[in-house]
Amino acid sequence: MKRFRILSCAAFLLGALPVSAQKAGDPAKGKEVFDQCAVCHSATTDEKKVGPSLKGLFKKAKMTNGQKPTEANVLAIINKGKGTMPAYEDILTKEEKDHLLAYLKTL
Ligand code: HEC
Repeated sequence: MKRFRILSCAAFLLGALPVSAQKAGDPAKGKEVFDQCAVCHSATTDEKKVGPSLKGLFKKAKMTNGQKPTEANVLAIINKGKGTMPAYEDILTKEEKDHLLAYLKTL
């Protein structure tokens, strides 16, 4: 039971944190958008699913394509897709992508 309490506490913190930090994108909304990425990408562990884990993406020196994880470079992957990853150019709105980037930065 103790473990359960710790887990729900962590979940609460994760949910509550992003709300205060709002710029262009809203990380809380981005987390919802990320639901469709989560089948292939872990956000909380280093586990490789279909694609590489995105935990700490913006803190990495390089992505697997050798580029720096800047907003523009990450957005380019989201828009164009990569390997078996689908292109999200027409699937997500600009707003949803802004939220998504804001969320990815919190990882
Ligand atoms: C069907 C599975 C799948 C889905 C869904 C998917 N991806 Fe991917 N993604 C991949 C694969 C596979 C790669 C690695 C491609 C390669 O390197 O050839 C990748 C690579 C990436 C990378 C580069 C990571 C790095 O370190 O180089 C980013 C960023 C990324 N995906 C973000 C997203 C986001 C954001 C979403 C949701 C909008 C998403 N992906 C949805 C499969 C997926």
